[in-house]
Amino acid sequence: MSSLSRLSRIFRVAARYRLDTFFGNHNLPLSARIMARCAQFLPNPTMPRGERLRHALEDLGPIFIKFGQLLSTRPDLIPADICRELDSLQDRVKPFPGEQFTAIVEAALEGRVEDLFLTFDREPLASASVAQVHTAVLLDGREVVVKAIRPGIEKVIQQDIDLLFTIARWIERNTLDGKRLRPVEIVEDYRNTIFDELNLQREAANTSILRRNFSHSDLLYVPEVHWPLTNEKVLVTERIYATPVTDVASLTKQGTDFRVLAERGVEIFFTQVFENNFFHADMHPGNIFVDATIPGSPRYLAVDCAIIGTLTDADQYYLGRNLIAIFRRDYRQVAELHILSGWVPENTPVSEFEAAIRTVCEPIFERPLRDISFGQLLVSLFRTARRFNMEVQPSLVLLQKTLLNIEGLGRQLYPDLDLWSTAHPFLERWFKDRFKPDALVDRLKRHGPEWLEQFPQIPQLLFQSLEQLHRLDRAVSARSDADRKRKGGGFRWLGAALLGAGLAIAFPQWSEAVTHTPLSGLVLMALGVILLIRR
Ligand SMILES: Nc1ncnc2c1ncn2[C@@H]1O[C@H](COP(=O)(O)OP(=O)(O)O)[C@@H](O)[C@H]1O
Ligand SMILES: [Mg+2]
Repeated sequence: MSSLSRLSRIFRVAARYRLDTFFGNHNLPLSARIMARCAQFLPNPTMPRGERLRHALEDLGPIFIKFGQLLSTRPDLIPADICRELDSLQDRVKPFPGEQFTAIVEAALEGRVEDLFLTFDREPLASASVAQVHTAVLLDGREVVVKAIRPGIEKVIQQDIDLLFTIARWIERNTLDGKRLRPVEIVEDYRNTIFDELNLQREAANTSILRRNFSHSDLLYVPEVHWPLTNEKVLVTERIYATPVTDVASLTKQGTDFRVLAERGVEIFFTQVFENNFFHADMHPGNIFVDATIPGSPRYLAVDCAIIGTLTDADQYYLGRNLIAIFRRDYRQVAELHILSGWVPENTPVSEFEAAIRTVCEPIFERPLRDISFGQLLVSLFRTARRFNMEVQPSLVLLQKTLLNIEGLGRQLYPDLDLWSTAHPFLERWFKDRFKPDALVDRLKRHGPEWLEQFPQIPQLLFQSLEQLHRLDRAVSARSDADRKRKGGGFRWLGAALLGAGLAIAFPQWSEAVTHTPLSGLVLMALGVILLIRR
């Protein structure tokens, strides 16, 4: 379908569901005002606005449906009534024919499915807007699922994303809410994640890492990737048999301890964010299963690792400290941390920011614990910070979204879930562990090679500095006693550094040893500090 006919379809759908009512009349350009006037002759809307938007997105097809699902995870931007409706959007699409699936697999793996698999099911196990999944059995008898991308979807995505950009730009330019909602940024965010989903090799790599991160844990199981039959177009993974997390009736029948189950969900999330810095960011119920063979110790199973979040080292640190500070109700520190981390501008008035945070957080803490939403708290905090020009950090948005999902799921399983009691000890431990000597040495070891890499440049830099110092020296004629002392100290320092650089170059095995034996590194650091503070 051409863009023009797509656009006219959008207009028709917008008219049918009276989406014009979403925009006030102020500030609209003339053309839009005329259209809005015409729209008044249309029948009055009978459904609430959220429902109308949901129907409109459903009519516009899978890419818009997925976009609606993404919007539903942004309660920091979208009003609650609309969020609730969008949350119920189902990404159900008619499966494409089995022959077509087989053809894609055969082309991607350069072989016939009869030769590659012992059996290959031509009926799909599941079908969604981007991919379809079939079951199969490998030649060695292992059961697997085969995932392939829907044919022609890339072009559809490209077209629909272009349309979404057109709409977003229009909203941003012409409506009062446009600036606040930052629609173009949201669409950009969407474009990045949806295109990531098209590369199955990427999903396979993510799956492998997540599996490895939890290989020694009984909290989460991630199916194994079968690499010989996996590439960008086809993903083959071990088939899992477990109860969908939404099938509460079956879980109840199995005697599952729902409290443990809900708390483990939170533990998995915090482990992924703070220990692994690699979190599954598509925690929607269709991707989560439960093995309740031991009902008192249920285990999660996760599939669909296409969307993964990671934070920068600094963001991870500030997020952790922020959460700890929030729950100590230390709003001053929350404000300061936002500034230190660079999330809000340096010149933000701390007291004003602190007061704004207190205003939104304090009423939340007055409620009983079971009614406090950790995710909502973060949403309120970010919304407040946005007023103080907090920049949208895609990784933090992803995290906020995942936290909301985890919490929603946890509360569905166990309404009394006390997220804070589960998360708090975890965060405190993480924070302490970060400053343990082992962790410091680990970080030293990790960055040691880069420092050594730059080591050979040090003599050159030093000579340049020396030369500069020398020139400065000649330029300054009148010199106080104190000055002389400092200069002498400077030369002593340069001498020590040169000696160090020379030693490292002459005896490279030492530098290697320094990065591999923490003790020698620490001794050297201690010596350095003593020299530094010695007069
Ligand atoms: N390894 C697996 N074992 C069993 N079922 C699976 C497996 N992987 C996926 N499925 C089923 O297929 C569905 C779709 O797979 P998924 O990877 O989530 O695709 P999509 O990206 O289209 O959501 C899942 O919701 C699940 O029911
Ligand atoms: Mg899925």
